[in-house]
Amino acid sequence: MSHTTNTDRRRFLSAGLAGAAALAAPGLAGARSNGNRRTNAGALAGRVALVTGAARGIGLAIAKAYAEQGAAVVMLDVANPRAVPSVEGFRIANAEEFEAGFRTVRAITNDVEKVTADVRKPKDLENAVARAIDRFGGLDIAVANAGYVRWHAFADGTEQDWKSVYDVNVHGVFNTFKAAIPALRNRGGGRLISLSSIGGRQGVPGNGAYTSTKWAVIGLTKQAAIELGPDNITANAIAPGPVDTPMYRSEGQIRSMGLSTREEQDAAINPLLPLGQDAVIQPEEIAKAAVFLASDAAQAISGVSLDVALGYNAFYTA
Ligand SMILES: NC(=O)c1ccc[n+]([C@@H]2O[C@H](COP(=O)([O-])OP(=O)(O)OC[C@H]3O[C@@H](n4cnc5c(N)ncnc54)[C@H](O)[C@@H]3O)[C@@H](O)[C@H]2O)c1
Repeated sequence: MSHTTNTDRRRFLSAGLAGAAALAAPGLAGARSNGNRRTNAGALAGRVALVTGAARGIGLAIAKAYAEQGAAVVMLDVANPRAVPSVEGFRIANAEEFEAGFRTVRAITNDVEKVTADVRKPKDLENAVARAIDRFGGLDIAVANAGYVRWHAFADGTEQDWKSVYDVNVHGVFNTFKAAIPALRNRGGGRLISLSSIGGRQGVPGNGAYTSTKWAVIGLTKQAAIELGPDNITANAIAPGPVDTPMYRSEGQIRSMGLSTREEQDAAINPLLPLGQDAVIQPEEIAKAAVFLASDAAQAISGVSLDVALGYNAFYTA
């Protein structure tokens, strides 16, 4: 059932997201003008975004790109390696990394909030959305980026392996989207963006539950796209190829590919990537896709899985 009247929708479509935000939250302009160096500039000027897993890697790159495009940003990360088990050279971000990432965004805009919270906890996401509303007057964009992986052969996987990866990668995305929906509806529309993977577009040996969680992310994103379209909310997934972050460069990832060094990793992957002279994607390239999907240019795009994979996807997608 739609929570948006036809009049609301016409106003939203004609005004664009930023205009709708101003209509729905008259106090917003005042809230955003205080100390913001980018209020009127950029593809996302006037919008408010929540980005999970924002301490480093792809999430941090998205937070930076959104700030550069004029958005106010709530950066969320659990930033505590004890909260999620470390595996084979891979640990989640710590508080120092989160603070450093926050400072790089803070150098772009004063309109940034840092929220230390866990995407596995629905209440944490509700509180983060409440923070966006308190500080910036509402929420327009939610990016469910936080992710986790454990590497093992299918037959060796334990219940704990599977549950721990599902809790972050699937339930975390659900929790993020669910908490954001009422706030997006209040704005007369908005954007939900999830991070899937090329692992969510094909079978991948050796990374255990991760592959199926990334298929699940595409499924739940498509469901959200169908159900929330009447509320002028788009929902899209980004499916990155190999991105130069701690996750991809971890010992476990390299071992799961039957390799020993990152040089071997590059040599093995390079021939599979039509655009892959460097055999790896920088996080900033994924952030560009996240900016596009959040911008007016993507107003008519929903329910897609957008491969940002240096063309690797051409081997297996229709
Ligand atoms: N790096 C790649 O090659 C690649 C490829 C495809 C998809 N992805 C996906 O992109 C997303 C970002 O990955 P990345 O490569 O930047 O990884 P990363 O490990 O560098 O960053 C992930 C972030 O999520 C945070 N996080 C983990 N569990 C959390 C929790 N429970 N609550 C809050 N924050 C939590 C971590 O602290 C970390 O800052 C993930 O969903 C990942 O699966 C990555």
